[in-house]
Amino acid sequence: MNDKKAAGEKAAEYVKDGMVIGLGTGSTVYYTICKIGSMVRDGLKIKAVSTSQATNDIAVKLGIPMVDLNCIDYIDITIDGADEVDTSLNGIKGGGGALLLEKIVATYSKYNIWVIDSNKYVSKLGRFPVPVEVIPNSYMHLSRLFEKNDMNPILRMKNGEVFTTDSGNYILDLNMKYIEKVHELNSWLNNITGVVEHGLFINIVDKVIIAKNEEINILTR
Ligand code: 5RP
Repeated sequence: MNDKKAAGEKAAEYVKDGMVIGLGTGSTVYYTICKIGSMVRDGLKIKAVSTSQATNDIAVKLGIPMVDLNCIDYIDITIDGADEVDTSLNGIKGGGGALLLEKIVATYSKYNIWVIDSNKYVSKLGRFPVPVEVIPNSYMHLSRLFEKNDMNPILRMKNGEVFTTDSGNYILDLNMKYIEKVHELNSWLNNITGVVEHGLFINIVDKVIIAKNEEINILTR
């Protein structure tokens, strides 16, 4: 078993009958989704909402009953991956480009769990670029703004073309090496016109499941 699988499967233990579950996006939470799929086949009764088209497709294939976010009052638990998590349990997400829906689903969840391997647990955020989802019409202006602030923005590409999110937006990845003031950056990004969402997830997660050499360490806020 690898660490992604170990962390991902551990999180499925928190899923109980009758819950509405938020399903994150990525290669670690993939194992959670597979485990939940087998629990559903064994009789577990849940509903789930997804954070991306990719996750929705996997969940549907596995027979997990999916519902629209707009058709439920709240989500009991959301399980998701992360790209970096610091010792205050703040994180960077969006490496897979699903940050907008991931943050929306996390916000409407009573409880959030992240699953990571130990390489992603860091003392300071920022080695992983911070993804910023932007309205395509304004990306050049925003890119210049980030450039001016020494954030080294790079327009995300995929297969030689500009990457577009599930919502049809672009992503500028900010390469800052480390972030000195995470809360200030969070507020600054929240207030820029043309920015749809960004990948700093501050004070959102409740529990982080970290796997190292298949051993599990659980951190709770
Ligand atoms: C997608 C995400 C993912 O949760 C994050 O990139 C971690 O993915 P992985 O588990 O594949 O490393 O934020 O937008």
